Amino acid sequence: MMKAIRISPKVWWVGAIDWQLKEFHGYTTRRGSTYNAFLIMDRKITLVDTVKAPFFGEMMERIASVVDPAKIDVIVSNHAEMDHSGALPETIARVNPSEVYASTLGVKALEAHFHGLAGKIKPVKSGDAIELGESSLKFVETRMLHWPDSMFSFLTGDNVLFSQDGFGMHYAVAKIFADENDLPTMREEAERYYANILLPYSPQVLKLLDAFPGLGLDVAVIAPDHGPLWRGDMLGTPLAWYREFAEQAVTPNALVLYDTMWHSTEKMAFAIADAIRETGCGVQVLCLASCTRSDAAAAMLKASALVVGSPTINNDLYPRTADVLTYLRGLRPKNMVGAAFGSFGWSGESVAKIEEYLKGAGVELVAPGLKVKYVPNAAALDQCAALGKAVGDALLARSAQ
Ligand code: FEO
Repeated sequence: MMKAIRISPKVWWVGAIDWQLKEFHGYTTRRGSTYNAFLIMDRKITLVDTVKAPFFGEMMERIASVVDPAKIDVIVSNHAEMDHSGALPETIARVNPSEVYASTLGVKALEAHFHGLAGKIKPVKSGDAIELGESSLKFVETRMLHWPDSMFSFLTGDNVLFSQDGFGMHYAVAKIFADENDLPTMREEAERYYANILLPYSPQVLKLLDAFPGLGLDVAVIAPDHGPLWRGDMLGTPLAWYREFAEQAVTPNALVLYDTMWHSTEKMAFAIADAIRETGCGVQVLCLASCTRSDAAAAMLKASALVVGSPTINNDLYPRTADVLTYLRGLRPKNMVGAAFGSFGWSGESVAKIEEYLKGAGVELVAPGLKVKYVPNAAALDQCAALGKAVGDALLARSAQ
């Protein structure tokens, strides 16, 4: 029987571990994930969030290791996305709770997902609280972090902040608390999660972090819906990381992304990267044939220059380049400079198309796009070096400001 894990006097982790997860709506995960759900054992027994639908049985087993699931009085849904709500209809049907709560927009989202739930969920808003017995659960709406419905809930007494996706990561940790796991690995996965899920909402993240002390919550445990939980000396770690990720301060690091048909665009990429390095900037080079869009997003978070190269095929971008640029544009990075390049045979539309994507992402172009016919010769490689130098110089000037 799968067991619950006690995380505070009244709270038990009753989630599921998805060891095999490799793909999460287009985000490639490398270390699986967890879907965290929490059971509060007070006079009113309360379940905070559920799990992805196929993991319903695992969650119920873990709940049953603490209490008969039929005794659950209250269910709170902090986030309507289906990795947390997929098992909600079946859970409601099984335990028949007397109360189910979500944010106002959460009620609408859940009803639009699970049509049989219409009229069964009560809305709560920021500042509302429900009494559970010795403790109460206070609600803080966190709209667009990262869905319109998203909210945090805070358990008084044990002082546990249930933060749904916020401060989480896709990491199937065997140990429940962050202080029991490897810090560099968590940092890597937190960066990857932020870059792929939260980056477009960085202004809202900064607003929330600024407002956080004013909420007067004496937090002892931050309990996200994915990955490890934060406590003790590590409570400030996810907050500091999120501020850093959201600010996207200029760093003298560039990312060169390229795809290639017959290695000509690749030769250009290497010459550009070398010239960037010669300016004293850091540079990472990723070929889109051997990385995923999620790798590209995670690398972009650490860079302040994005230089993209693609051959032209049938008057258009190489398909993988179009895929990744569409994804990166949607992530709306901040404070970035960039440039475009590519080899072509007879028309060479790819460079202008890359520039359109970069401008759409808010990237400032600091060098004219560079097109090279067929295979770059020595003169063309000198032009690549000049492009790399222009990018490196622009980065250095920006990071000195
Ligand atoms: Fe973990 Fe937005 O769902």
